[in-house]
Amino acid sequence: MLKALAANIEAWLTESRTRILTAMQTPVSVATKTGRNDLVTNVDADNQAFLVGKIRTAYPQAKIEAEEGTAAKVTDLDGLVFFVDPIDGTMNFVKQRANFAVMIGVYQDGAPLYGAIMDVMRNELVTGGPSLPPALNGQPVSLPLDRLLKDGLLGASGPMTIHNYLNLGDIALASSGARISGSAGMEFKAITLGQLVGYVSYLQPWDIAAGMAIGAGFGLQCSRPDGQPVDLLQAGVVVAAMPQAHAEILHRMQAK
Ligand code: IPD
Ligand code: CA
Ligand code: CA
Ligand code: CA
Repeated sequence: MLKALAANIEAWLTESRTRILTAMQTPVSVATKTGRNDLVTNVDADNQAFLVGKIRTAYPQAKIEAEEGTAAKVTDLDGLVFFVDPIDGTMNFVKQRANFAVMIGVYQDGAPLYGAIMDVMRNELVTGGPSLPPALNGQPVSLPLDRLLKDGLLGASGPMTIHNYLNLGDIALASSGARISGSAGMEFKAITLGQLVGYVSYLQPWDIAAGMAIGAGFGLQCSRPDGQPVDLLQAGVVVAAMPQAHAEILHRMQAK
């Protein structure tokens, strides 16, 4: 089941990538959602429809939580649940035409099964799960090191860092340096490749589902700032980091 699931998702994300690259050859229509920093495009909507269609056909019994909200919201995690972010980093997609991802995370009864992050412009697919070591384009990668915060770069939410919310500005200063990418998927990809020691942001379930599932294969710690487990039915601040850095980030957040 897991092998077939992984093969299906890898094929869908590969096809998604081609569809997005094709869509980028014609003008993209951009609309705002809750405000001027919260965008959605026709490409987000089309790609979500494509992925949801594939999932519904292959796994008719599954629930689907997808950002651009076509289906009923998932209200419990029983059974097989797919989390879909059709374009993660829509602002980057619009402004940079790079540094965005397509993500799918799959959970069974609330436990991670499999995650996949497609970095569209670099053609890099990061995959993994609790029983699947992390891989880049199908090739296993070295497992990220459990570095101290001071010895690693930290992916951080721009607004939280700038406002020192939960001490995140100070925490970023205590790391080797802060990096603000504007895409949760790109941050989880970088953690998986050992380029960041952690990532802190306010995130929705579809922002974190794929990365958290991949991280389950290499000891990534994901929690709320108070150490409570992340609930995939709710948005909130997520601290995702390798164990030593995770402990230090929580300690420094609670010192506020
Ligand atoms: C956003 C990105 C961004 C994060 C935002 C998310 P979207 O996702 O992941 O890095 O800071 O909170 O909403 O809306 O572009 O899919
Ligand atoms: Ca969005
Ligand atoms: Ca999105
Ligand atoms: Ca997102």
